Amino acid sequence: MRFISMSIRVNQINKFYGDTQVLHDVSFVCEKGETLVLLGPSGAGKSSLLRVLNLLETASQGSLSLANEAFDFSKPIAEKQGLNLRRKVGMVFQQYNLWPHLTVMENLIEAPTKVAGLSKAQAESEAMALLGKLQLADKANAWPLQLSGGQQQRVAIARALMMKPEILLFDEPTAALDPEITSQVVNIIKDLSQTGITQVVVTHEVDFAKKIASHVLYLERGHIVEHGTKQAFDNPETQAFADYLTH
Ligand SMILES: Nc1ncnc2c1ncn2[C@@H]1O[C@H](COP(=O)(O)OP(=O)(O)OP(=O)(O)O)[C@@H](O)[C@H]1O
Ligand SMILES: [Mg+2]
Repeated sequence: MRFISMSIRVNQINKFYGDTQVLHDVSFVCEKGETLVLLGPSGAGKSSLLRVLNLLETASQGSLSLANEAFDFSKPIAEKQGLNLRRKVGMVFQQYNLWPHLTVMENLIEAPTKVAGLSKAQAESEAMALLGKLQLADKANAWPLQLSGGQQQRVAIARALMMKPEILLFDEPTAALDPEITSQVVNIIKDLSQTGITQVVVTHEVDFAKKIASHVLYLERGHIVEHGTKQAFDNPETQAFADYLTH
């Protein structure tokens, strides 16, 4: 049965790179509007899991439903279905991945005009509104390399938001940022959570995680060890998560 839902449903995902299994029977549900933080030691599989969620990686086994699309990894995934999904699921990486040869404005309107069929004027007007909200209005014509790391990260977030994603995935969005800029990213994620968008955020930074999370998923060596609401930060159920938090 094709199961359609606005939430993210991950069902018994196994992922191998060659002979190495990096995700073991991963199953969880993230309801619409949640901000789910993925925590865990280096190599736990956080980025791999995030990349499976927008099909940058395919899982070896299991199934997934999100943004009204269902995927069964025991069968080949149609390319068109993958493209549909990526229009609805935005991704923000640690390395901002802006096009260096395009201005901020050009970076923002690229996908909406080429993929989503917006007119240039419409895309530019939406881009200016977003840049204003993210305090970047004066940077529309700047080149990415003329911006600070924090400004580049906010442009990367704006670029993802241009596609009006239902789900936004972040991989270590604050890893290269100083505390003041990190708190700006906290505010952006919190504001977005008020809009009903579902966010999944990979981070190493427990303080950052506590500020943004509605829910938390703690992974070790490809296994889910703990999944709970943000209360788990104060009352972890497992010794492993408690130990991680006190490191
Ligand atoms: N493309 C790849 N090919 C082979 N192995 C990979 C690949 N990407 C990741 N791995 C391995 O998969 C495991 C999980 O990696 P992943 O990047 O998902 O971890 P992570 O939790 O995001 O770690 P970090 O906190 O260091 O970013 C690691 O053992 C890693 O070496
Ligand atoms: Mg990672």
